[in-house]
Amino acid sequence: MNNLKSNILLIFRLTKTLLKVYKYKIRHFFVTIQFSLDDDPAVSEGIKLIPLLNQSVKDAYELRIKANKRKKDSVFLNTFPGEHYRLLGGLVKNIDAKTIIDIGTFTGMSSKVFLENTPQDAIVHTFDVIEWQKFDSHLKKINFNNGRIKQYISDLSQKEEFKKYLELISTSDLIFLDAPKDGRFEYRFLNLLSGVKLKQKNRLLIIDDIKFLNMLSLWRSINSPKIDATSFGHWSGTGIVDISNGLKLNKKYFHN
Ligand SMILES: C[S@@+](CC[C@H](N)C(=O)[O-])C[C@H]1O[C@@H](n2cnc3c(N)ncnc32)[C@H](O)[C@@H]1O
Repeated sequence: MNNLKSNILLIFRLTKTLLKVYKYKIRHFFVTIQFSLDDDPAVSEGIKLIPLLNQSVKDAYELRIKANKRKKDSVFLNTFPGEHYRLLGGLVKNIDAKTIIDIGTFTGMSSKVFLENTPQDAIVHTFDVIEWQKFDSHLKKINFNNGRIKQYISDLSQKEEFKKYLELISTSDLIFLDAPKDGRFEYRFLNLLSGVKLKQKNRLLIIDDIKFLNMLSLWRSINSPKIDATSFGHWSGTGIVDISNGLKLNKKYFHN
C-alpha cells in the first residue's frame, strides 16, 4: 500500500473511532501515540521498580482517602483505577519518604495524600505559582502551622529558582511533577534536573500525564530506570522514574 492510501486509511479509522467516542459519551478523551517499549533501554532497566510498584498497588487497593464531599474534586481522591491518588498513597507508604517535593499544589489533593500517608517527621514541600489559599483547598492552615507542609511560590523551570532550591531537590526522596504540562515547563525542569549532580540516595520522580501528546517526547527522553504505571495511576499517564543516581536524558528525543 502506498503512503497516501495508508494515510487516508488512518484518517478514516481515526474519524470512525472519534465518532464512537461521542456516541458512547466517554467522559474525557484525548488523542495520543503508543510507543513500543522493547527498544527503550530505560524501560528494560525499570524492571527493578516492579516489586515497589507491586506492593504500592496492593496498598493502593486497600487504601481509602478521607474526602471532604463538599469539595468538587474530592470525587477523584478515591477513584481507583483511573486517578493517581491512591497509588501515590501506596507509593509513599513504601519508600520511607521524609522529604517530598510536590510540584503543582492546586487544591492540594496530592499534598494531602502525601501528608496522610507518611510519618509525622516527613515534610511536604509544594510548589506553585499561585498561593494554596486561592483555591478551594483540601489543605488546612494547621498543616502549615505544624510545619508538615511548606508552600513555595516559585517556578522551578527558571534557572535561578531551580538553583535556589537545589539543596532541597538534592535531599528529596520523591518529586511529584504535576504542573502545567504546557510543553515547556516540564522540559525545562527536567533539563535543569539532568544537569546537576544530586546526592546519591533512593529517590523517585513521578510524572503525571505522560500520555499527553506534548509529554510523549519528555517521557521517551528519560534514560533513567522507568516504568509506565498508567493502569494503576492517572488514566492520562503516570510515569515512575528511579532517579537515585540523578536523572539521565536522551537529548535525541528532547525538543525543548
Ligand atoms: C494539575 S494542577 C496540580 C494538581 C495537584 N497536584 C493536585 O493533585 O491537586 C497544576 C498546578 O500547576 C500550577 N502551575 C502552573 N504553572 C506552574 C509553574 N510554572 N510552577 C509550578 N506550578 C505551576 C497551576 O497553578 C496548578 O495549580
